[in-house]
Amino acid sequence: MNTVTSKNIRILHTCEELKLWRAELKSAGNCLALVPTMGNLHEGHFTLVNHAKKEADAVLATLFINPLQFGPGEDFERYPRTFKTDVDGLESIGCTAVFAPSLEELFPNALATHTTIHVPILSELHCGASRPSHFDGVCTIVLKLFNIAQPDCAIFGLKDLQQFRIISNMVEDLAFDVRLISHPIIRAEDGLALSSRNGYLSEAERQRAPELYRTLRNLSAQILHGARDLRLIEASGCNRLAEHGFVVDYLHICDAQTLQRAETTERLLAILGAAWQGKTRLIDNIIFSKPTF
Ligand code: PAF
Repeated sequence: MNTVTSKNIRILHTCEELKLWRAELKSAGNCLALVPTMGNLHEGHFTLVNHAKKEADAVLATLFINPLQFGPGEDFERYPRTFKTDVDGLESIGCTAVFAPSLEELFPNALATHTTIHVPILSELHCGASRPSHFDGVCTIVLKLFNIAQPDCAIFGLKDLQQFRIISNMVEDLAFDVRLISHPIIRAEDGLALSSRNGYLSEAERQRAPELYRTLRNLSAQILHGARDLRLIEASGCNRLAEHGFVVDYLHICDAQTLQRAETTERLLAILGAAWQGKTRLIDNIIFSKPTF
């Protein structure tokens, strides 16, 4: 187990430690914001923590690489484990506590027989089509963290827009008493959405990667300038990405709330995309209002 001695941040490794700490917090009348992460933190995560500090008396960040949300052959094994740097970063920005359980602590029983949460339809679209069971894994761990930490609110970045909508549906359907907060995507200067997986990119791939966001902007501009055939616009985006060395997983123009494919009537649209640069799968999205056609 990683041990870090730190004066200004509480490090919790077990569910029991977390529950005790949470109970102390409650009896002191303090409310809690949760920032779930898989570690390898970057500026996007730190922005979530800073946002969370404004929403609650105490902020708990979780560092846990959740095996349930990785499919066979995905990057679970090589996902960067950067515990010490993560804790130092969290401490430096005034995060109150960190929960970093071991795999055995959170999953004492076999993963194959673990209860899972499934949000139908939306979990099967977009990223869910190429990563079956990914969102079941996300929902299961998020609900488990909610159950253990009992946060008053929880904050998620909108780079994972589909994840945020699915978690919102789960919380509503299961009547879980937590306020969900979303935070806008944090981007590098060249537009690339910050992601822990950006570290996998070679120099040449990193140069090409911002084209994903440029393409989303280009598609939204086409719509704002009156283009109407949304399937044709999607196809033009796929071609553009392919020209920049991407292998496109999907590029979908959707209703921003339901994330169902848009036809022509929706006012608030989201364009969601996932594409590979080499061995790295990047996702991004853009939300915008379109004038009525
Ligand atoms: O967005 C993520 O980093 C993960 O999906 C989450 C919410 C921490 C669950 O493992």
